[in-house]
Amino acid sequence: MSFPEGFLWGAATASYQIEGAVAEDGRKPSIWDTFSHTPAAIASGDTGDVACDHYHRYREDVAIMAELGLTAYRFSISWPRVVPDGSGAVNEAGLDFYSRLVDELLAHGIAPVATLYHWDLPQRLQDAGGWLTRDTSARFADYTAVVAQRLGDRISTFTTLNEPWCSAFLGHASGEHAPGIKDNAAALTAAHHLLLAHGLSAGVLRAELPPSAQVSITLNPALLRPASESLADRDACRRAEVLSNRIFVDPLVNGRYPAELITDTADRTDWSFVADGDLATIQAKLDFIGVNYYQPTTVGANPADPAAPVLLPGASDMFVHPQPPPHTGMGWGIDPSGLRELLVRTAVDFPGTSLVITENGSAFEDSLDEAGEYHDAQRAQYLRDHVAAAHRAIEAGVDLRGYFAWSLLDNFEWAWGYAQRFGVVHVDFQSQQRRLKHSAHVYRSIIAANGAS
Ligand code: GCO
Repeated sequence: MSFPEGFLWGAATASYQIEGAVAEDGRKPSIWDTFSHTPAAIASGDTGDVACDHYHRYREDVAIMAELGLTAYRFSISWPRVVPDGSGAVNEAGLDFYSRLVDELLAHGIAPVATLYHWDLPQRLQDAGGWLTRDTSARFADYTAVVAQRLGDRISTFTTLNEPWCSAFLGHASGEHAPGIKDNAAALTAAHHLLLAHGLSAGVLRAELPPSAQVSITLNPALLRPASESLADRDACRRAEVLSNRIFVDPLVNGRYPAELITDTADRTDWSFVADGDLATIQAKLDFIGVNYYQPTTVGANPADPAAPVLLPGASDMFVHPQPPPHTGMGWGIDPSGLRELLVRTAVDFPGTSLVITENGSAFEDSLDEAGEYHDAQRAQYLRDHVAAAHRAIEAGVDLRGYFAWSLLDNFEWAWGYAQRFGVVHVDFQSQQRRLKHSAHVYRSIIAANGAS
């Protein structure tokens, strides 16, 4: 089992989850600063104020990446570090941090893969309406230009948005994520403005960067399976497909929203926020699609037992059923076959566009063994099995260009705080000491053998 030449072996992180230094060198609050400081929003009251202190320790972290043999590193740029108010004045000190990070990566032969938006919207823009106003999309394009002009000479791969489904639906329908809004109609407005922001940003990147630059978006396409073959469950699954996947895929690929989406959401919105020309902007040409995969999703019609299932945000008449064991520490189902299936399906959805796995990984409670090591056998197995599944997708004809493990470091896991550890590298959040887990050693040997384990 060997991967194509030039296949990227990476790890992924996100600014708010690792950087800390939230009030340093001119950075202003994002919606995640506000949200994490809201009582009861985060399990155990954790915040990203310090996180992994990566802002100060990035050199050590890049050295770890080099030790693992990573050929690429996916990180996100914090909008409120670079443009603290979301629009207007540019914060040179914030840009400098990313400039130093990129230089450090390049000095170690690691390709930087930069995400422009991993959920940390400047709070000032939220105060002006956030993703519910069109203006935010235009401001994102301005911020994109600042980053491209300053860092585009050294970063050749950009991702506009990370998982717009989460920003739209977890941020605006279920309210589990910042800005914590619970309004099913708002989620649809936000989804459109996020897509518009993506399209405008992709256009700016094309204009500012050399033709060889790679422009992409990262989605978390749901791998949906009906709970049973009953008509009701299959219909729920179809509607979930429209609301989780086709709401993004169709505009990106075909420049239109699916007719079913408009019908299925007619009780919530008339879609009048879509202006002439928006869809043509959204249909920007992309070099690859980033795919984040953790587990499959089983969907059924609203069951008689309201205690069992979990509500799918935005649709009270369909439910997400828990996955059968085995589970990760998050309670997520472990199903590597789902990764192969999702890649094959996504390749069909985006004909002619290559794919990169921009996130895949698992949280487990790690403990030290007698030898004083974090022997995270389950995470190592998860990694091996999913890399093997990625290879099977390539054998099935998918043009897959890279695999990024989530995550390099244990970090601030959003609404779960520090309770869930996804890193292949252990972080002691008191001392900030980093220690390679067994899974990091396994990953290093996978990379050294270009995929063979
Ligand atoms: C995501 C997230 C990550 C999460 C990871 C584990 O893009 O969903 O980008 O930030 O930490 O998915 O839940």
